[in-house]
Amino acid sequence: MKIIRTRKEWNAESALRGQKTTGLVPTMGALHEGHLSLVNKSKADNERTIVSIYLNPTQFNNPGDLETYPRTFEQDCALLEKAGADYLFAPDYTEMYPDGFTYFLSETTVSKNLCGGARLGHFEGVLTVVLKLLNAIKPNRAYFGEKDYQQYLLVKGMAEAFFLPVEIVPCPLIREESGLALSSRNRRLSPDALGKAPSFYRALSSGKSAGEIRVLLEEEGLKVDYVEERYGRLFGAVYLEDVRLIDNVKR
Ligand code: PAF
Repeated sequence: MKIIRTRKEWNAESALRGQKTTGLVPTMGALHEGHLSLVNKSKADNERTIVSIYLNPTQFNNPGDLETYPRTFEQDCALLEKAGADYLFAPDYTEMYPDGFTYFLSETTVSKNLCGGARLGHFEGVLTVVLKLLNAIKPNRAYFGEKDYQQYLLVKGMAEAFFLPVEIVPCPLIREESGLALSSRNRRLSPDALGKAPSFYRALSSGKSAGEIRVLLEEEGLKVDYVEERYGRLFGAVYLEDVRLIDNVKR
């Protein structure tokens, strides 16, 4: 796997290797089986797969969350080598934000509910960085996990709204045996919180109403941000200690 740090390096590499169908898997690192399933899907669909690792500061509304976000670059590289990724794009802030984030992209509808309600500016940061990654790498396809279903909807909508020549591919959410959705933030859970976390999925998949599920979760000691039905799914976000977990199930 070749590590690429700049757009210039990637353009030179693409010119050297000629036209090949390219799959992009955008990540913020702290990789787990969920990310690797996107890499596998991209490998099956494309001639070359490039994974990006960029811990994007503009999508963190809470500085503490950014500070404590797990950083596991060496481990991530080993996992990607093993999974057979061809390239890793790992730019720094100046490479991604030569404008200092004075330009950004915003959406006025889907981004305002669910995670957009509590995390002000979050989706502006996400859409802006994803647009930059798509423009820098110019993939044929880009892969997004359905754990972040609202993010997937927004990225797909952005690609359609701006006529981007890329297919946005949704990939199924991957769970631990306990039902807990895989997430980079799970690494920050204490053993006690890890014991409680599977009750989140159990409640969401119980078939009860959103209101009943909220009460159930609060009784189990989880702090609820939202439980809401939208887009044919039931979405939830909770805090366990200071770790924010999100999940969704089809309804
Ligand atoms: O889902 C993520 O890990 C991030 O939001 C993404 C899409 C890589 C943008 O920073």
